[in-house]
Amino acid sequence: MAASIVKRVSRVKKLNISHISARYKLLTGFRHFSTSKQWNKALVLGVYENESTDSIDFTGTARKFDEKADGKISQLLLTVKKPLKCGKTRTLHAVDPEFSSVLVTCIGKRGEGYDELETVDKGRESIRAAVAKAVLQLRELGENEIEVDSCGDTEASAEGCHLALFSYDDLKAEKSRKPTVRISCATRYSQDKNSMEKEWRKGAILAEGQNLSRRLMEMPANLLTPTKFAEIIKEQLADKCEVLVRDKDWAESMKMGSFLSVARGSVEPPVFLEIEYKGRQSDSPLALVGKGVTFDTGGISIKPSQGMDAMRGDMGGAACVAGSLLSVSKLQLPVHVKAFIPLCENMPSGSATKPGDVVTAMNGKTIQVDNTDAEGRLILADALCYSEQFNPSLILDMATLTGAIDVALGAGAAGVFTNSENMWNKLQKASVRSGDRVWRMPLFNHYTKKITECQLADLNNIGGSRSGGACTAAAFLKEFVNNKNWLHLDIAGVMSNSGDVAYLGKGMSGRPTRTVIEFINLMSKETKN
Ligand code: BES
Ligand code: ZN
Ligand code: ZN
Repeated sequence: MAASIVKRVSRVKKLNISHISARYKLLTGFRHFSTSKQWNKALVLGVYENESTDSIDFTGTARKFDEKADGKISQLLLTVKKPLKCGKTRTLHAVDPEFSSVLVTCIGKRGEGYDELETVDKGRESIRAAVAKAVLQLRELGENEIEVDSCGDTEASAEGCHLALFSYDDLKAEKSRKPTVRISCATRYSQDKNSMEKEWRKGAILAEGQNLSRRLMEMPANLLTPTKFAEIIKEQLADKCEVLVRDKDWAESMKMGSFLSVARGSVEPPVFLEIEYKGRQSDSPLALVGKGVTFDTGGISIKPSQGMDAMRGDMGGAACVAGSLLSVSKLQLPVHVKAFIPLCENMPSGSATKPGDVVTAMNGKTIQVDNTDAEGRLILADALCYSEQFNPSLILDMATLTGAIDVALGAGAAGVFTNSENMWNKLQKASVRSGDRVWRMPLFNHYTKKITECQLADLNNIGGSRSGGACTAAAFLKEFVNNKNWLHLDIAGVMSNSGDVAYLGKGMSGRPTRTVIEFINLMSKETKN
């Protein structure tokens, strides 16, 4: 019986879509089937990995649908002897009158959770990856409305769908289709309907924040200049946040000589963005700082041309700050956040800073610029100093700062340098929820010595040799921070995805936006923020 259904279904697949419903009635004898307009509607169901060849371990939602379909889904799945493995899918057609496709996706072993060595929640990660694969396959089939199983973790399921469907095609004539995705209608019958829909919304908003970061990072630098970045941020955030756009004169009046030394090589004017989200009253906001180099040529210490196009993403820190603020404000988290984003281009020209030049930062420290390609730390130095003026309870900066962090950690995790054990624990906890990992790196005096040994000034901007490059960069930033709760995230290694994260397409990753949103969420539960 089941085998014949498979045969029939495969025949149905070959038929013209307009004939399908009529043929289906004949083939299956399904009396209530309608020639409905909803024949581009699909359903994603989760199953757990299960060795048995005569039973299927469905999720709660999937079980309900199987019952509703008189056990057809399990019958069809069991006609094939090989059980589904984690990450694999089976697509069934014409098993339910409401859906043209029912895609069954395997979400791994039941009960999988935190893996200590991997520092990740395997259950949640498998759900993200499994639903991501499912919605992309259904899009391929031309489905335009997709209902998705919560798979036991509604938030992770929503994140997987919305992250997978992102693509940057603003500049292409042919756009990729964006089917609508929503939580499976099984929630209609669930007692937790409201809380599940709330969780789905949270997952979708977390993904939306990361997708904004990805879009900003992917945009070409001729279109995303510092001025344009500020305009987009105003569009995206102005209804929820106060956005101040400071110009070069303002930066001069603040004595941001370090920031301005990077901007001076370009004809594009620098911008310093100050953004405030007040989800609660407090005198000690949480400060976010993001490196916003809209293009990094290296300046006079020019970079090799191969792969230089990726340096359009050198405003990744700024983008992740913006993406985090979008989600935090949409979720209306009860927290006070202030963000500081120095934006400029790093270009070689007749007016550019030269190796050996000495500049003075806002806190009066002098810096010998031995390499103009180590510009991120120069713009962050002033932004960190400025952020200290607002009595922040913590300062978190993000920057695509060094190639060395990519050598150390690759795309496995963002490198975190922090002077606070407590902050580290919170950020790590947040990353376990988001699946977007962090790894702690040292802030030893050993590295500080490398950047304070300087011929002409208080500090040099490269720390002598290439060894420990991410650590000397962090030690440099430390010279501009007094706050006892400081976290510096070097995100150069996680800047782009080349297939490592299954639910993110190839390209700029927007990592670790969701980790930072979760971190802010955790901090919002502490009264003083
Ligand atoms: N923007 C780069 C770092 C980077 C590298 C980001 C690869 C993303 C991918 C940064 O400004 C830089 O050029 N750093 C230099 C520092 C060196 C000159 C001390 C580097 O890492 O080579
Ligand atoms: Zn550089
Ligand atoms: Zn850079």
